[in-house]
Order: sequence, then C-alpha cells, then structure tokens
Amino acid sequence: MTPERRPLVAANWKMNKTNAEAGEFLDEFVPAADELGEVDVVVCPPYTALETVVERARGSRVRVGAQNMHEEDAGAFTGEVSVPMLLELGVEAVILGHSERRQHFAESDAALARKVPRALAAGLVPILCVGETEDEREAEETERKLRQQVQADLAAVDVGQLADVVIAYEPIWAIGTGKTATPDQAQAAIGFVRALVGDRDAGAAQAVRILYGGSVDPSNAAELLGLPDIDGALVGGASLHADRFLAIAAAAGT
Ligand code: PGA
Repeated sequence: MTPERRPLVAANWKMNKTNAEAGEFLDEFVPAADELGEVDVVVCPPYTALETVVERARGSRVRVGAQNMHEEDAGAFTGEVSVPMLLELGVEAVILGHSERRQHFAESDAALARKVPRALAAGLVPILCVGETEDEREAEETERKLRQQVQADLAAVDVGQLADVVIAYEPIWAIGTGKTATPDQAQAAIGFVRALVGDRDAGAAQAVRILYGGSVDPSNAAELLGLPDIDGALVGGASLHADRFLAIAAAAGT
C-alpha cells in the first residue's frame, strides 16, 4: 500500500526580512498559496517577524514556524526564545538543528535530543535538519553521519510520536551553493533516513515526512519532489521571493 504522506514545503528565511518586508511577502504569497493543491505550507521567518506573519497568514493555509527554540520554558538564557513564547504568538512549527546553527552556534545533538520531544509535547511540528558535509560525503561517511544525527536527535522521542516529526535531509554542501544533490543522491540519503526511522518503528517510517533541502529552486523542484521518498522541501534562498516559493510549492502539491 502506498502511504499517504501529505507534501510539505517550508520556507527558511534565515536572518532575512524585516517586519515590513515580511508583510509585503505575505500580501503577495497568501492569496496565491490558497489556490495550491494538496500541500502543507510553512513559513519560518526570524523571531521578530513571527507575529506579523501569523497575523497576515490567519485564515489561510499558510502555517508559521520558528527557526529555533530553547527547551526550557523560562529562565536565565539570554537571547533565547521558549516554547510558550512561540505558542502564544500562534506558531505551529519549528526548525531544529539546522546546519547553520550546528556550525555557527554550537547546536549539539544532546540539545536536540531535548528540543525535539519538547516541541512535540507542545504540539509544535519539529522540522529536524540532518545532513553531511562535503568532506564527509567524499569520505563515504554520509550514512554514518545521518545515522548518528537521526539516532541521537530522536533518541528521546516516543515511538508513538515519531511520525509527527518532519525530517529535512540537507546536505551541507548543497545549502546556499546552487549545487543540489542529484536525484540519486537525494533519494538514497532520504531512503536511508527513512530506514533509520524504520529501525525504531516500521509504521512510523512509512508515515514520517522527509524533506530535501539545499538549493531547491523552481527549476529543480519538480524532479526532486517527484522522487518516491521525498515528501517536500525546506527552501532557503528561493523562499525569499513569493513567486519562486509558490512555484516550488506548486511542484510539491498534488
Ligand atoms: P538554500 O537553503 O535553499 O538557500 O540552499 C536551504 C536551507 O538552508 O534550509
């Protein structure tokens, strides 16, 4: 039986767009997004634009995600943002473990092992990012890296909630470089990630949504999103333009 996994596209705006710019994007994006087929659409702006995006997306199919969170609800963690703060704004998803956070801000698998279950417990959809560096791929270490990240970051997630996680496979060498994984590379890595989830639970492996990320744009989206194990895309650069992100979402929709 073919599993029913609803496609999902998520925009990772990273450290881009003021409130005014976010508002302009939503004014263009929301009416067109409502015309799309079967696809979940999530926009992840910087914290400062979350409220604007939630307000402009209200009543539409567009959902809003943060780009990170702290696992504690409150306390002496200067510069951090907690789950209750996100929930209060109407945020419904959160990117966790993006490679830029792992590389530049020392995000660890130990922290992610706390953050993923915390997000799930709060009803936030975690979009957990995993992926290898170019050196790791050249050294044929891709599977080892993916195994280590998936096992560690999902270690404390109950089997019953595994299928509620969204995983984004993002080869680090493909992020922001214009170099995408080939369809074979993307399918192989994502199939491997699905098998890793299957080591915990076969049903969850069939149900869990796994996205590809790394230089997705309107010209390559249809080919990547047409692959059997790829359930959508996490999009950086191309998601900053409403027309380009819409074209990608349209390629994901059925
Ligand atoms: P990119 O970024 O689409 O600009 O390569 C993807 C990401 O970092 O999530």
